[in-house]
Amino acid sequence: MPPHLAGRESELGRLRSLVDRVAGRSAHHAEILVFGPRGNGKTVLLARIAEEAASDTQVDVVRLRPSQIHDRTAFADALLRRKWWVRYLPSQLSVGGTGASWGGREERPPTVEDVLRTRVRRKPLVLLLDEAHTLDPGLGRDLLNASEQAGRRLPFLLVLAGTPNLLAHLSTMGASFWSRAEQMRIGRLTEAATADALWKPFEEARVSVSEDALDLMVAMSQCYPYFVQLLGQAVWRASAALSPGGGQRVTRREVGLARSEFDEARDEYYSVRYREFEERDLLPTVKAVACAFEDRAILTDREMAEAIRRGSGTEDHADVLAIRRSLADLGAIWEPRGRPLWEPGIPSLMDYVRAYEPG
Ligand SMILES: Nc1ncnc2c1ncn2[C@@H]1O[C@H](COP(=O)(O)OP(=O)(O)OP(=O)(O)O)[C@@H](O)[C@H]1O
Ligand SMILES: [Mg+2]
Repeated sequence: MPPHLAGRESELGRLRSLVDRVAGRSAHHAEILVFGPRGNGKTVLLARIAEEAASDTQVDVVRLRPSQIHDRTAFADALLRRKWWVRYLPSQLSVGGTGASWGGREERPPTVEDVLRTRVRRKPLVLLLDEAHTLDPGLGRDLLNASEQAGRRLPFLLVLAGTPNLLAHLSTMGASFWSRAEQMRIGRLTEAATADALWKPFEEARVSVSEDALDLMVAMSQCYPYFVQLLGQAVWRASAALSPGGGQRVTRREVGLARSEFDEARDEYYSVRYREFEERDLLPTVKAVACAFEDRAILTDREMAEAIRRGSGTEDHADVLAIRRSLADLGAIWEPRGRPLWEPGIPSLMDYVRAYEPG
């Protein structure tokens, strides 16, 4: 969790109202897909809403990652405590016997729908699934069916978070159903929210921040949440180093001193992304896309496809789409509004690639 979660009031408001509806049993189930390029704050948004929902005694909150629920058995394990299935299983679940032996895995695990039905019988459920773009397709399909069938009658909120390809990934699991789920894009912060994220933690520690220092920090962070945290930490250390006896403050001088630490940390981050492109043989393609972005903030579908063809040498349309999906998964590009218009996913990563990829 960042010291101050800034600029997500409307997103939190939407999530809270879905939780409230499920908690109050006024609506049965709902799904919401939360997606955006890495580093923009999907995980912390889920963590915050989980924390808030957990304080509501009317609902149960479960946070999971796909790696914890790679199949039905793991899903049942994650959602049903033994004492529940001993209580509900004999009459409700189709696993044979008393169900108690299912812990030994010899029995067939209950279906996803049975698991949800059993779990929700106790209390309305908020199920948060991060990194959902890596969800196993088989389990995803089960979850989809359960959500569609049992979900209609059950107080159950499913929150899925992942990369910009989340919807495409879920769609491969069948049905156009997911495309009707609510969608929430998580992109960069506004300048005002970035200023709050940078300034409030200092204020809480009674450290003053000059206006021009704050302006400079907002510009340096590029309103990208991950950089906001890196910069906040670097400036904190610089100002503490300059005032070891107390009386810490932040002016342009402290920010200037923090710059090299921030630049280094940011370059480390870019270099990890760069190596990811390299490992997937995507560097020449990313370079071509980066060059297309050199004098353009936005690329159309056609321009993006041209850049991908130029960089990869492929003419095959399906290949171009697959490469585009990989680029979005890795944070290189995304569509920040519901329009087929592309922007870089991680700010200045394209400058980094242009500078270091010689191709
Ligand atoms: N609203 C915000 N205000 C301030 N800092 C934020 C905010 N959102 C995220 N951060 C910070 O940005 C960083 C990235 O957040 P987070 O890990 O949630 O991103 P993510 O979208 O889940 O990324 P990934 O796709 O790589 O998992 C963290 O250091 C987090 O504390
Ligand atoms: Mg995350």
